Parts: sequence; structure tokens; C-alpha cells
Amino acid sequence: MPQYRKPTDRKSSVVVAGEGDGRPTCDSALTETIADSKEKQEMTQLTYIISAEMIENAFSMADYVSTIEQSFELYGRGEVQMPPKVYLTFDKGDLRCMPVYIPAMNTAGVKNVNVHPANDALPAVMATITLIDPETGFPLAIMDGTHITRMRTGAAGGVAAKYLARTDSKTAACIGTGTQAATQLEALLITRPTISKVVLFDISLESMKHFARLVKQKHGLKATCANSVEEAVKNADIVTTTTTVRSPIVKSEWIKPGTHINAIGADAKGKQELDPAILKHAKVVIDNWAQASHSGEINVAVTKGLITQKDIHADIGQIATAKKPARQNPEEITVFDSTGLAIQDISAATMIYRKLTSDETLKAKLETFEFF
Ligand SMILES: NC(=O)c1ccc[n+]([C@@H]2O[C@H](COP(=O)([O-])OP(=O)(O)OC[C@H]3O[C@@H](n4cnc5c(N)ncnc54)[C@H](O)[C@@H]3O)[C@@H](O)[C@H]2O)c1
Repeated sequence: MPQYRKPTDRKSSVVVAGEGDGRPTCDSALTETIADSKEKQEMTQLTYIISAEMIENAFSMADYVSTIEQSFELYGRGEVQMPPKVYLTFDKGDLRCMPVYIPAMNTAGVKNVNVHPANDALPAVMATITLIDPETGFPLAIMDGTHITRMRTGAAGGVAAKYLARTDSKTAACIGTGTQAATQLEALLITRPTISKVVLFDISLESMKHFARLVKQKHGLKATCANSVEEAVKNADIVTTTTTVRSPIVKSEWIKPGTHINAIGADAKGKQELDPAILKHAKVVIDNWAQASHSGEINVAVTKGLITQKDIHADIGQIATAKKPARQNPEEITVFDSTGLAIQDISAATMIYRKLTSDETLKAKLETFEFF
């Protein structure tokens, strides 16, 4: 029978997969983090159950930014098996299944994530990640994926801004001040530390005020609450949209030359936040054509025939590997359309798993399950 073990139940002699990796942080190249597979084969196979709390303490936003940038490079070099995410549609929400195999990291896994906007007691978005040993198919870990989703989404926005936003960007506008907005800004301030002014707009005044306090406390920056989307974006160098709207709220005429936009909120069919005229005139970078044309910011414009694949400048992998140019002049308007890639989740989850299981103290705090 499979057996569940709390941390205190575990025998001290148990040795685990990933131990001895010795390369726990993402300062090392991802390709150097491959655990010794022979060593793993000799070890007792336990599946780790890794909570959000353990994950939150293990990996900083700087770690995510570095990991996501390197994962985009692997993606850009085609060194990954990653079918587009699959959607199941329910009456009140959906379930998305996101598998990936990353040979260079000797890792594979799948994230399952729902979106149920009407949830009250439960969060609208809940994710779990299963990490798989590609050599045996053994489930190495079952991890909370909700925190990783927020962080890797923020990190993707930060990496996109590193390539696409002007290096002298000073003002960031956050349209939508909910969960994703916080991690978007956190990552942006890492890749664009020149930002000194933050302007907010959200239809919820309470949410805006809460976010303004967070910006002050966490980042030491003053955040101004705008009265409209127009007021928030018109002088911004970088605009991040993280709302749940289904129709455009950012008009083309409000966006000044040289602005970079991270379009994050549209991640399901029929959703859009930007005036399609912006997409027509901007340098548009997507994360993945199949996903973006199905469910990203561009999906409605593509379905209506307002833009085609020819209007897309590049995917983020091509930008990260310099196969296509990033920003080329200070006047162009750039857009990054993020739908979220499985490689972001699984690369981050793998680094976290290896960090936690290569540290004896941290490892002792993890719960385990014996499947086999
Ligand atoms: N691209 C990705 O990889 C990715 C990842 C996770 C979530 N998302 C998407 O990002 C969006 C935001 O997610 P979240 O977890 O931050 O949700 P959230 O509910 O925490 O925040 C959304 C915010 O948008 C605000 N809002 C709604 N309508 C608005 C409007 N007309 N103008 C201004 N603000 C408005 C809400 O008041 C709320 O504060 C969702 O649509 C979610 O599906 C995308």
C-alpha cells in the first residue's frame, strides 16, 4: 500500500532523489543542475509533498527572474518538448493542463491549474505541479503551484521588460492591482531598477489603496492612484495590465511612443485588455503562437482577422536567444503577450525541488509519500 509520511515519521536513513546535487541556486546555468541520475537510481524513491510555505521561503523573485530568462533561452533554442496547454471547460471555470520535458535540465512535469472567477471561500486560481524523473517516470514531487504561478508570471513580465522596455524607463503603470500585479511589479523593479514612479488604476479603490501601501512598504516607492486608465497610462514608460476584463480597457491613443506594455490578464479565449489598434501598430512579442492565438491578448484580434501571425514580431524565446531583435529604437511601442508557458513552471519547480532536497535541514521539513 502507498504510505504517507509526515516529516517527523521519516527514518533518518532515508536518502532521496536530488540529494547531493550541490547546485541549488539558479546562479548556476540550468543545464548544470542535472542531478546525478545513477545516484538517483540507487536511492530510496520517495515522492516529496512540497507546500507553498516551503516554496515561498526557498526562492526569491531574483531567482525566478534568472530561471525564467534561462528557460526562455532553452525554449528559443528548441530544446524542449512543450505542447500547448489543454483546456477543460466547466460551467463555472476551467482546468488547464501544462506538460513539458526539458532535457537540458533532465526534468519533466505537469502543472494543473484552474480558473474559477466566482470562487469565494477558495482562491479563483489554484495550481499543483507534479515533477517527473524523465528516466523512470517516477513522480519526484507534488508541489503547490499557486505561488510558483504568480512568481513565474511576474518574472516573465520582468524578463520581457528587460529586452523590450527602454533602459531609461522611469514610470510604471499597473492597470489592475490584484494578485498578479504585485509580482509583476516586483520583477519589473529587478530588471528595470530605473523605475522611480508607480501609477495605479483599478476599479476597486480598496484594492488600489492596499497595493499602494504594499508598494511603499515593500519597495519604498510612492504609488499614485489614478482616476482612470487613461490617466494611469498616458505618461507611463511601462504599462502592465493584470485585470480580469474581457473587453479592451487601454486605448491606442493613450499610449505614448516608446512605451512597453506587458499584457498579462488575457489568458483565455475571448479575453482582451488592449485596444486591437495597439497590436496593429506595436512590435508584438508573444510567448507561444499556439497559446497566444488561442487564449492570449492577441486571440480576439486574430479570430476577427484584425491581425495575423505575420503581424507578430517574435516569440520570447527568439528574443532571449537574439534570433530576433528586441527593442530597436526609443520610439517604438512594444507589447509582450503572456499566456504562461509550462517551461516557466517546471524549470522553477525543478530548481526549488533541488534546492530543498539538497539541504539536509530543509529536506527534513518536507513531507513524503511512498507510491511504490
Ligand atoms: N498570463 C499569465 O500567465 C497569467 C497568469 C496568471 C493569471 N493571469 C490572469 O491575470 C488576470 C489577473 O489575475 P489576478 O490573480 O491578479 O486576479 P485578481 O482578481 O487578484 O486581480 C484582478 C484585478 O483586476 C481588477 N479589475 C477588474 N476589472 C477592472 C477594470 N475594468 N479596470 C481596472 N481594474 C479592473 C480587479 O478589481 C482586481 O483588483 C486574470 O485574468 C488571470 O486569469 C494570467
